[in-house]
Amino acid sequence: MTGGAGYIGSHAAKALRHAARQVVIFDNLSAGHRAAALGAPLIEGDVRDVDAVRRAIRESGATAVMHFAAWLSVADSVADPIGYYRNNVTGTLATLEAMAAEQCGQFVFSSTCAVYGEPNEVPLRETHLTAPINTYGQTKLAVEHALPHFERAYGIRSIRLRYFNAAGADPEAELGEDHSPEIHVIPRALDAASGGPPMDVFGEDYPTPDGTCLRDYVHVTDLADAHVRALIRLEQGGASAIYNVGTERPSSVREVIATVERVTGRTVAHRMAPRRPGDPAVLYASAARIRDELGWVARRPALETIVGDAWRWHSTNPRGFQAAR
Ligand SMILES: NC(=O)c1ccc[n+]([C@@H]2O[C@H](COP(=O)([O-])OP(=O)(O)OC[C@H]3O[C@@H](n4cnc5c(N)ncnc54)[C@H](O)[C@@H]3O)[C@@H](O)[C@H]2O)c1
Repeated sequence: MTGGAGYIGSHAAKALRHAARQVVIFDNLSAGHRAAALGAPLIEGDVRDVDAVRRAIRESGATAVMHFAAWLSVADSVADPIGYYRNNVTGTLATLEAMAAEQCGQFVFSSTCAVYGEPNEVPLRETHLTAPINTYGQTKLAVEHALPHFERAYGIRSIRLRYFNAAGADPEAELGEDHSPEIHVIPRALDAASGGPPMDVFGEDYPTPDGTCLRDYVHVTDLADAHVRALIRLEQGGASAIYNVGTERPSSVREVIATVERVTGRTVAHRMAPRRPGDPAVLYASAARIRDELGWVARRPALETIVGDAWRWHSTNPRGFQAAR
């Protein structure tokens, strides 16, 4: 599991261990945390290093790779396309090269709804045109486009999971979101509720009921469950596929703030800021395909539950993993 010491990867690793799979994490800890491995074997290495990935696959006897390792800030990706193409595209191609060399033929890829760009219609189906409007989304789409070639030439079957907005935390509060800087709405709102700096709300004049953007927040343990199901499909010899992973329920930024205030019993200090370029007004998934083909449904879809779980982690680990262990 590349990037398994990060937010989504660590939750997926926990779910896989519960599903009786042995997990080995490969992470350069540029954004991840050793403590998030929860004691699973962790090889410190960089996915851009083909030899290091080959060694990790060989020595761990890996039969499948889940590839979370990437950078994910839209703003940074626009400012630093070289870095983003290197890490997200070259890093993934190096991982696939290592897999081909070691005859490891099952790949689960962390893709994103950012591959769609500005939606022509919502809910977004997997068949929607892919036209990313930022470098980050473009790097993920570049990998998606490469995968059929790697399948044809080297037999690597893949499941591409297009996540919507990952949110929440492990309901047992062993794991949670600890990004630095934090770019996601819910932890930003929780931080503001805890006395941190006020959060910025980017745009209040969108054509939505309350003027703020609508997004599909999917619980990170539901995302983790999608990975277990994707792996089982590959293990059973299933064909390569693309799936959206979202709840099909859009929530506005104002709804997030109101929910955080309800859950925490505190005020979320916030200020209105101009729209950010490249932020579509409305993004939410159709999850019909993953429901029909993998039997996946969101088990913790309510914003209240997502925020409640995130708050439990946040309030018991105010300094994230640093102070946790
Ligand atoms: N968080 C979201 O809402 C979201 C939405 C859609 C897609 N994704 C994708 O999901 C994946 C995981 O996201 P996350 O939120 O857990 O991010 P994260 O930053 O918490 O985790 C990424 C992990 O990858 C590691 N990493 C980065 N570059 C590496 C490299 N070159 N070599 C080895 N390890 C490296 C980091 O140290 C980190 O542990 C990413 O690929 C991201 O693009 C995330």
